[in-house]
Formats: sequence, structure tokens, C-alpha cells
Amino acid sequence: MADPSLAVVVGANRGIGLGVVKEMLRHGWSVIATARRPDAAAELRSLAAANPGKLEIVGLDMTDTGQVDAFAGTMKGRKLDAVLVNAGVAGPGHMSASQATEAEIGSLMFTNAVAPIRLARALAGSVRETTGVLAFTSSAMGSVALNTGGHELYRASKAALNSLSRGLWSEVKGRGVTLLTLHPGWVRTDMGGPSAPVGVEDSARGLVTVIERERGKHRHAFIDFQGEEVAW
Ligand SMILES: NC(=O)c1ccc[n+]([C@@H]2O[C@H](COP(=O)([O-])OP(=O)(O)OC[C@H]3O[C@@H](n4cnc5c(N)ncnc54)[C@H](OP(=O)(O)O)[C@@H]3O)[C@@H](O)[C@H]2O)c1
Repeated sequence: MADPSLAVVVGANRGIGLGVVKEMLRHGWSVIATARRPDAAAELRSLAAANPGKLEIVGLDMTDTGQVDAFAGTMKGRKLDAVLVNAGVAGPGHMSASQATEAEIGSLMFTNAVAPIRLARALAGSVRETTGVLAFTSSAMGSVALNTGGHELYRASKAALNSLSRGLWSEVKGRGVTLLTLHPGWVRTDMGGPSAPVGVEDSARGLVTVIERERGKHRHAFIDFQGEEVAW
């Protein structure tokens, strides 16, 4: 990359988000990394100490509207080259639409679909025109075309995110930005579990490569960590 670039990574204290922060720092990016509890984000804090001036840690619960508005307010006037809204949850262990309570469904849908869109919409005006990238960590499980059953609530939450992201595209495409709906692979994290075939480093390396490659393409695409397009 020619110039140092500035990214926001939301949900960066562990798992894929933390991996993306490490990879971006390796590529020379400056990063604003968010965590619900920055005081407990030990790995992020030691990364910040090892990369002085390159990593800022900000407290943000994506489901708290007041915190989202305040965070977006602090980003006004900054030119963000990339925003990755990565935070997400697996939902109730049974993953069943029939067993789930209204509260479980509300919490999963709000966290995985509505809150990411609200946050992205609030930050969209701070994304650099022409070359900026706004991205979501979605999942191939959100693809309706590839749905083979199982995990139905989680799939529905990511399908809703994908649909909302297409709606957001109609609002932001006039600014010349690029919008990415990303699939990180099935990754060995707290969410993906120990049997997942993809390590965090490989997923993060792929996601950052895709974000860098897609700059200036001015399209909305659903792409996996290996750079392949995913069917909607
Ligand atoms: N792992 C996989 O195989 C896989 C596959 C496809 C898609 N994904 C997606 O990739 C993303 C990251 O997954 P992961 O595997 O890294 O999961 P993870 O290890 O469980 O980490 C989830 C991250 O999201 C944060 N988060 C959850 N709710 C939040 C909220 N309300 N506000 C702010 N941050 C919140 C968590 O913060 P706390 O530490 O505070 O909980 C944590 O940083 C998710 O969107 C997930 O759906 C994962």
C-alpha cells in the first residue's frame, strides 16, 4: 500500500476481529479497534503497546444506540479507508426457530442484522469517497442459495444482514465507496469451535487481502476469505 490507511474494526478483542487487526497492522494500516470491554481486552492492549500510535482501542457495544451515536460522532471529520463491522453472536445453542423464545430471536436478529446496519449507516459518511470500503463479516450461512438446512436462526440472522446490506448499498453507492459482505470461512474461534478447518490467521489474511483488492471497485459483492464470490 502506498499510503498509511485508517481502518475501524468492530468487535476486535478476540477471534476473527482480533486477527484482522493484527493483519492490518502488519500491512501498515492504522486501526481503531472496538471492544465491549476495553479494560478486559488484554491482547488488544498489548498490541497497542507494541504498535505505538498505530492502534487505538475504543469501547463500543454495537447494540447500544447511544454508544453507536457517540462513536460515530467521534469519527466525523476523519477519513476512514475501511470499516469492518465484524461483531456477531451465534445465538441460542439449539438454533431452532421452533424452540426459540421471542427474546432469543430478538437478541440474535438485533445483534447480527439490525445493529451492524445501524452502525455502518452511522459511519458511512466518514468512509473515504472513491477508495473507501465498508464491510460486514457475514457468513456463507446467510446465503439463501446455499442453504442446506440446520442452524436456521443463525442463517436467518446473516441472511437478514445480507438483505439489509443490499439496502444500504442503494444509499451509499452514490458516494463512490465499495460495500463488501464477507464470508470468513469456518474459522477456529470461540464461535467456530476447535474442529473448524480454517485458522484465524489464514482467514484474517484473506479478508484483509480482499478489502485491499476491492478498494475503488464501487460495487456491492459477497466474497469469501479466499477471494471467491458467494451466491446470495
Ligand atoms: N467463526 C466462524 O466460523 C465464522 C463463520 C462465519 C461467520 N462468522 C462471523 O464472524 C464474526 C466474528 O466471529 P468469531 O468467530 O470471531 O466470533 P467470536 O470469537 O465469538 O467473537 C465475536 C466478537 O464479536 C463481539 N461482539 C459480540 N456482540 C457484540 C456487541 N453487541 N457489540 C460489540 N461486539 C460484540 C465479541 O465481543 P465480546 O468478547 O465482548 O463478546 C467478540 O469480539 C461474527 O460476525 C460471526 O458471525 C464466524
